[in-house]
Amino acid sequence: MGPHVIVGGSSGIGAATARRLRQSGGRVHLIGRNEARLKAVADEFGGSFAVADVRDKGALEEAVAAAGDKLDGLCYAAGTINLKPVPRVSDDDARRDFEVNALGALRAVQAALPALKASEGTGSIVLFSTVAVAQGFAAHASVAMAKGAVEGLTLALAAELAPKIRVNCIAPSLTRTPLAASLTSNETMASAIAALHPLQRLGEADDIAALAAFLLGPDSSWITGQIIGVDGGRSSLRTKG
Ligand SMILES: NC(=O)c1ccc[n+]([C@@H]2O[C@H](COP(=O)([O-])OP(=O)(O)OC[C@H]3O[C@@H](n4cnc5c(N)ncnc54)[C@H](OP(=O)(O)O)[C@@H]3O)[C@@H](O)[C@H]2O)c1
Repeated sequence: MGPHVIVGGSSGIGAATARRLRQSGGRVHLIGRNEARLKAVADEFGGSFAVADVRDKGALEEAVAAAGDKLDGLCYAAGTINLKPVPRVSDDDARRDFEVNALGALRAVQAALPALKASEGTGSIVLFSTVAVAQGFAAHASVAMAKGAVEGLTLALAAELAPKIRVNCIAPSLTRTPLAASLTSNETMASAIAALHPLQRLGEADDIAALAAFLLGPDSSWITGQIIGVDGGRSSLRTKG
């Protein structure tokens, strides 16, 4: 069995996915910008890691190649939450959000493709969107544009890469990770946002990682081309009024 590459495996949902894959006997190769954070997670269970910024295509290709010539899966969990009202969204904001969330995902897939195709079984790719694509939220223009592109990419890849490689996407609502700390560290604000969810709480990294690990593993072998909300019911249900 080949390893799973987890871009963004040093924190939050990516790190929780790495832990779950290890618990079920898989191998993981983590990628991120900060070596100390990558090493800390990899040392928990003897995983490998490589440092790269997804905005540097060559560095990302090298970091993915370091995982070896056969891969079972690719999880692309790098992302941004850059919330601004429309008049304040600069071109640089929009470019950065697109590059980290969407273009980086395409680059990671391109870099991993030969090794995913060389895997003995069916390869699996998991990408991340956000609840803010299925439902419009104020101040989310830049991230919603970028994550909307990820959803389109998911379907295009799933069609092009079938039957050898499955491609799915998870769309979380607000989840307690370092990325979301600006929204969740104020408990009054966190409780108010939690109350907007039919299930009355925010997500935890492991809520999302449970689905990511399932989609990367063999038990989901007949699932491809899906955008799946893990969002406490936020995208599809209205329980009040
Ligand atoms: N948390 C939420 O509320 C939420 C909601 C909706 C969607 N999501 C999506 O879920 C995914 C996982 O997010 P998370 O909450 O787990 O975030 P997180 O805790 O901040 O983790 C992000 C990971 O990506 C890496 N990373 C970030 N920018 C990078 C770059 N330019 N190059 C290489 N690595 C980079 C980070 O490591 P370094 O910083 O060391 O590079 C880290 O390992 C993202 O796609 C996010 O957009 C999250």
